[in-house]
Amino acid sequence: MTTQHGRISILGLGAMGRALAGALLEAGHEVTVWNRTPGRAGDLVARGAREASSVMEAIEAGDLTVVCLLDDASVRETLAPVVPKLAGGTLVNLTSGSVRQARELAGWFEGYGVRFLSGGIMAVPSTVGTEGAFILYSGPRDVFDQVAPALGPLGRPQWVGEDPGFAALYDMAALSGMYGMSAGAAHAVALVHAEGGDMEAFRHEVLGPWMERMLPFMVAGADVSETVPEEYNPAMQATGLENILSASGEAGVPAELAGHLRTSLWGMRRAVLAAG
Ligand SMILES: NC(=O)c1ccc[n+]([C@@H]2O[C@H](COP(=O)([O-])OP(=O)(O)OC[C@H]3O[C@@H](n4cnc5c(N)ncnc54)[C@H](OP(=O)(O)O)[C@@H]3O)[C@@H](O)[C@H]2O)c1
Repeated sequence: MTTQHGRISILGLGAMGRALAGALLEAGHEVTVWNRTPGRAGDLVARGAREASSVMEAIEAGDLTVVCLLDDASVRETLAPVVPKLAGGTLVNLTSGSVRQARELAGWFEGYGVRFLSGGIMAVPSTVGTEGAFILYSGPRDVFDQVAPALGPLGRPQWVGEDPGFAALYDMAALSGMYGMSAGAAHAVALVHAEGGDMEAFRHEVLGPWMERMLPFMVAGADVSETVPEEYNPAMQATGLENILSASGEAGVPAELAGHLRTSLWGMRRAVLAAG
């Protein structure tokens, strides 16, 4: 496969598939696209992409096929009719799914002799191809080494292991971390709003700088053990968490918004008990 300006086929022209195709065109690749519902390739065709009228036609037009559909079931449904003809081909699946689905999908493709990689996109459509975007890949290292230069324009390629489930695993775990932070930010803003504070000033002058400052500590301190480093002083932390929960109750902020605080409080109480 030519890595600088290779021929790449994209299956799926949803918001993400379109962004992937656009970034590859921008980088000078020869891009062929296919979508279940025709008529979504217009602007990509105007930018130089070729629209295939069938899945097999699209796959045959590329040295490498990138799949970005809704879910695991849509990948299976789309590729089942053609997979026996794909032996020796290279396919990268950037469709989100569970860890088990990714492992089973890899086994399915490998059973047909397809060189296969699973991926997880750490970007949204508008940030694909921009600085800071990165894509997790897992599966055979030699397949990664083959495709990484061609797929670099989508976002920094990052291989996370031979286990084909690991891209999905790290993707979902990272998203879980992000949603936890979102829940915390939503609770914080609700609290300030309920007590009559200036939400804009709070967001930009307090919450943003504080979360940015604490982020490295949150990431470094995330652990599965019940032990809490001594300098964290779990008894003091538990009292602090109880204060926030009280403030939240006084302000009438819905209890479900404070769920993450209760989880942290249980953790601190367990740490106090474990320390004797
Ligand atoms: N958007 C994001 O911010 C983002 C970020 C990271 C990862 N992802 C992942 O990227 C994947 C695509 O997301 P998206 O934002 O592009 O979703 P989307 O805009 O909803 O597009 C879904 C795509 O899947 C196709 N599709 C759905 N069911 C199908 C089926 N049974 N057979 C064939 N094609 C089918 C749709 O085709 P039709 O046009 O025919 O309906 C469309 O091309 C998802 O797995 C998503 O989790 C998205």
